[in-house]
Amino acid sequence: MGTGLLTDPFPRVDGRIQCGGIPLGELAVEFGTPLYVYDMERIRRQVGRFEQAFAGAGVLIAYSVKANGNLALLREIGALGCGADITSLGELHRARRAGIPASSIVFAGVAKSEIELTRALDEGIYGFNVESESELERIDRLAALMGVQAAFAVRVNPNVAADTPHEYTATGHDATKFGVPIDRARALYSWAADRPSLVARGIDVHIGSQIVDTAPYLEALDRVLGLVEELRGAGVGLEYLDMGGGFGISYGDGAGLDIEALGRAVVPLVSEAGLRLVIEPGRSLVGEAGVLLTRVQYVKRTSGKTFVIIDGGMSELIRPSHYGGYHAIRRVDTRLDRHVERVDVVGPVCETGDFLARDREIDMPDPGELLAVHTAGAYGFVMASNYNARLRPAEVMVDGGEARLVRRRETLDDLTRLEEDL
Ligand code: LLP
Repeated sequence: MGTGLLTDPFPRVDGRIQCGGIPLGELAVEFGTPLYVYDMERIRRQVGRFEQAFAGAGVLIAYSVKANGNLALLREIGALGCGADITSLGELHRARRAGIPASSIVFAGVAKSEIELTRALDEGIYGFNVESESELERIDRLAALMGVQAAFAVRVNPNVAADTPHEYTATGHDATKFGVPIDRARALYSWAADRPSLVARGIDVHIGSQIVDTAPYLEALDRVLGLVEELRGAGVGLEYLDMGGGFGISYGDGAGLDIEALGRAVVPLVSEAGLRLVIEPGRSLVGEAGVLLTRVQYVKRTSGKTFVIIDGGMSELIRPSHYGGYHAIRRVDTRLDRHVERVDVVGPVCETGDFLARDREIDMPDPGELLAVHTAGAYGFVMASNYNARLRPAEVMVDGGEARLVRRRETLDDLTRLEEDL
């Protein structure tokens, strides 16, 4: 089934791609290109879908802020009742600014600094997802100093091989820096049992990203629930099980994860264990709800290749060059027919690796035409950079038939401000 159940947030109507009833061409004229466009309605429906699929386990949807941390988007997601999965002080700041209560924030990351931990302790977050013995010791020391109690979950590395599209997005096997090996996790809980500043609230696992199969989740869950059982035997009762995120979506080159099937399998296991379920979806909430809108600058033919050169590239969307990620690319307006050609779609950055598609057959656009780079709502803008002194693009949210600028395009002044203001 996968996410194909939902209607396309960017349908083509009379030859023109729209978002929430507004032609993308109009947004390009109003806000310029390159431009990120998000369909809020789609995000809302995805949240609803997760709520339903995992309803039986009292689910907390801790949206993974790293996927797209735009404040307006976070506010909307928070208003839908979601919490947040954060990985830095900056993400804590964003989540709190967006009104997400600290009591529904979980904090992962292997390198949490004293400043980050102190701030999160001060806010009183729901749980630290602890990634090492030394981190737990540091949390204990800081919490004792501050006279507060720190609720934590050990992030267990279950040593499960999950099929992710790139080795960089696999985290659940023991050759990665993430989590605590499952056979060592028990020792952390027993150590914490005698520390008055620590409360063992949960257990956490995250096996990777863009996983389209339910099997590795169930395998990881099986191992984690085994440990939960053991811990209970040892007198450590937990409140929640955080099964992480990583739920795969369809980029147009294959199906996404069947969320409903995952829910049906997971909910009984977690509720029978008497635990509340926490999930950390990022990409699956926002990925398909976004496009990167770009304009063709030139078409260049060399002896071997045809290049469609657009005004956005790896500085706006790094996934193709960094992970070999596939993003469907479509002409925004197909009212005029074009022939299909095999091309490289490349950007303005001075790197051979600056491409959004290679050897891709597309409907050949003319210079000046708009192209939509699809499924760019997750790990798009957040991974954008100022490399080559490029100005990071604007972001627009479409909701209720209206388009709202939710981050303005950077200016030349933005580019130099932090150096000139010294
Ligand atoms: N929880 C933890 C602990 C994570 O590390 C991640 C992602 C998530 C949740 C959310 O995963 P999602 O549901 O979004 O797949 N930049 C890469 C993806 C990196 C994912 C890092 N961790 C990409 O563009 O494919």
